[in-house]
Amino acid sequence: MEKRKIILDCDPGHDDAIAIMLAAKSPLIDLLGVTVVAGNQTLDKTVMNTLNVCQHLGIDVPIYKGCGQPMIRDKQIIAPEIHGESGLDGPLFAPLTRRVEPKHAVLYLAETLLQSDGDITVVTTGPMTNLAMAIRLYPEILPKIKEIVLMGGTYQLGNMTPAAEFNIFADADAAHVAFTCGRKITMVGLDVSRKALCLPSVMERMSKIGTSASKLFIEIMTFFNTTQKQVFGWDGGPLHDPITIAFLIDPTVLTVKEMFTQIDIRGEQSYGRTNCDFFHNSGQKPNSFVATDINVAKFWDIIEAGLRAYSP
Ligand code: BDR
Ligand code: CA
Repeated sequence: MEKRKIILDCDPGHDDAIAIMLAAKSPLIDLLGVTVVAGNQTLDKTVMNTLNVCQHLGIDVPIYKGCGQPMIRDKQIIAPEIHGESGLDGPLFAPLTRRVEPKHAVLYLAETLLQSDGDITVVTTGPMTNLAMAIRLYPEILPKIKEIVLMGGTYQLGNMTPAAEFNIFADADAAHVAFTCGRKITMVGLDVSRKALCLPSVMERMSKIGTSASKLFIEIMTFFNTTQKQVFGWDGGPLHDPITIAFLIDPTVLTVKEMFTQIDIRGEQSYGRTNCDFFHNSGQKPNSFVATDINVAKFWDIIEAGLRAYSP
């Protein structure tokens, strides 16, 4: 089967790191490059974390540094209460020798898409700033984007505010650009990721695998599960970001519904909300696919296979 070409735009971040692991070794995915954005921590830290994960696991994919600030709003929102001071607290890494590519992530995205046959899927698991900047600077890339799959948003309760999910809240303008760009877009939000809780039974299962990736998975999720318990009370952290990759590996892992989605870029209390017209009340033509359910057993099977793809 032909591999699906993707660029993964992320802000590692515990769950982002696992999304990278899953994408890098899947026989069904051709990970062309990883572009990094500020989000879970400041840009220098999310870049460092990406390099550390790739160096540690021998993932030989070019890494590009992108935007350190949202498109319009002044302040970068970060999440140390969930991801720690480094943005990837928990695991310890050897001294870093891997380096980022000299090109800016936005330029890399634009050039790679332009030179492509229109067969590249852009996956975002952080604030959507890099992709939105590429779209605004180089609108000619639009017909070249095969589709966009993002982790972000919710049609239920937010995790940043009662209304908004972190990735969208951190750069709602960028999300607005992505949702109005006219390309196929699939939103994998908290509505499904809150069902993929990394419970003690999952930790036990993954700890038995014994590869470099499974060991790193356990170190990463031990920290993440602790902060998720402190902040949200979950007995296991929701493994948000890798669901995008699992969906590309096996689309039957998610149930999706076509809906009209609008990002609240003007509100106060509901700023950054993904207003998904679940019941089609607005009469507006759907502009997005929104994940409404996840086959949790299938998802953990995909994660396990992904961790097993690495050597001990
Ligand atoms: C999203 O926010 C980040 O903290 C995670 O990495 C994930 O992308 C979940 O709301
Ligand atoms: Ca993320």
